[in-house]
Order: sequence, then C-alpha cells, then structure tokens
Amino acid sequence: MKKFLLCLMLLALCVPAFCEEEIITLPAPDKTGGLPVMEALALRKSSRNFRDTELAADELSALLWAAGGVNRPDGKLVYPTAMNARDLIIFAFTKSAVYRYNPEPHTLTVIERGDYRSCAAVQDFGAKAAVNLVYVQDTSRWPKIDATPEQVRQAGFAHTGFSMQNVYLYAVSQGWGARAVMSMNYEKLPELLKLTKTQALILAQCVGPLD
Ligand SMILES: Cc1cc2nc3c(=O)[nH]c(=O)nc-3n(C[C@H](O)[C@H](O)[C@H](O)COP(=O)(O)O)c2cc1C
Repeated sequence: MKKFLLCLMLLALCVPAFCEEEIITLPAPDKTGGLPVMEALALRKSSRNFRDTELAADELSALLWAAGGVNRPDGKLVYPTAMNARDLIIFAFTKSAVYRYNPEPHTLTVIERGDYRSCAAVQDFGAKAAVNLVYVQDTSRWPKIDATPEQVRQAGFAHTGFSMQNVYLYAVSQGWGARAVMSMNYEKLPELLKLTKTQALILAQCVGPLD
C-alpha cells in the first residue's frame, strides 16, 4: 500500500512537468510602414532562392501577425473567415524549432525543438527558407451550422489563401521572398504537429530573405 501511495505521489509530481507547454511571448508587431499596397501587388511573385537564416524576434512577430494576427478588440483577424470560424492553426517551422502561433495572446507554443523545415516543404528550397508556415484547419472550431464537410473544407482553403496573400505582400514589403507549396511531407507532419481527428493539413508557405 505504501509503495502504491508513493507511486501516486511521484506521478502527481511528474505529470504537470510533462504536460506543461513552453510558451514564448512575441514582441508587439510593428504595424506601421511597409510598401504601399499597389506597389507590393506589382512586385508579388513566388521565389525559390531562400537564404538559410533565422529571423529576429520582431521580424517573426510581424510576419505572424500579417499571416494571421488579431487586428480588432473583438478578436477578429487580419483575414476573413466564414461564420467567423477562425478555424486555421498556423505553425511556423524555423531553423531551431516548430511553433504553433497563438493569435489572441500573440505567443508561440513550442511544439518541437529542432530543424524540421524540410518536412513542411519537401522541395530543396524548403530546407533553407527562414520560416515555413504550415496551415492546418481545425473543423471543431466551426459553429454547429448546416454546412457540408466539403463546404467547410473549401472555406479552409479560402482562409489559407487570404492568409498566404498577406504573407506574400508582407514578404515583398520586406524585400524578402515567399512561395506557396503543397509539396509537404503528408506522412510525417500530422505526427510531428500532434494533429487531432478534427485537424487537417491545408497548405504550406516558405518565406524569408533571399540570396
Ligand atoms: C495552392 C498552390 C500550391 C503550390 N504548390 C507549389 C509547390 O508545391 N511547389 C512549388 O514549387 N510551387 C508551388 N506553388 C507556387 C506556384 O508554382 C506559383 O504560384 C506559380 O508558378 C505562379 O507563380 P507566381 O506565384 O510567381 O505568380 C503553389 C501555388 C499555389 C497557389
């Protein structure tokens, strides 16, 4: 009995340590400056010649805010979502770690330490881009409405497209490059990102300085 109680006590001490998430608070994003929209549109294109580098914290902060941050006090985002479902989860793959972006507190949750960029974008340029964003739709965030699974899935792609275009324009404005990619590692990513049954991969996007 004593042994059993001791085991229980040890378990109670260990479980919180294992469950605790590592959260990184991002600096407030700089929402000023940049290229005028028409100039950014004139320069938008997909690039491949990414430089193998890491972004500074303020650069990562502004990039993620442009991709999917909150831009109003009611929690709505920089891009529109059907039924205000806000059903996308954006993961950021860098040279040092894989993070989940949390728009409301503007923080990162560390998913895995290490360089998994080539998992997010399997073509050669994907291993070099400073950041690879992976877009995941979580259908459990949808309100209970009469939409078919196909409509919900289509909306997920539409939401991703809006976010990706923001990233394309932000990249141009920074003098960087970006590229939408569907060539992801569809086998490894769900396990790496610990996706649940209601979460599905949509697309990825490489972004960062160019050589
Ligand atoms: C949904 C989508 C998926 C894409 N997937 C890939 C991809 O897997 N690999 C790649 O090299 N480019 C990919 N691209 C980039 C396109 O090849 C590129 O946008 C197209 O050639 C037009 O070039 P532009 O973006 O410079 O106008 C993708 C683009 C979109 C919109």
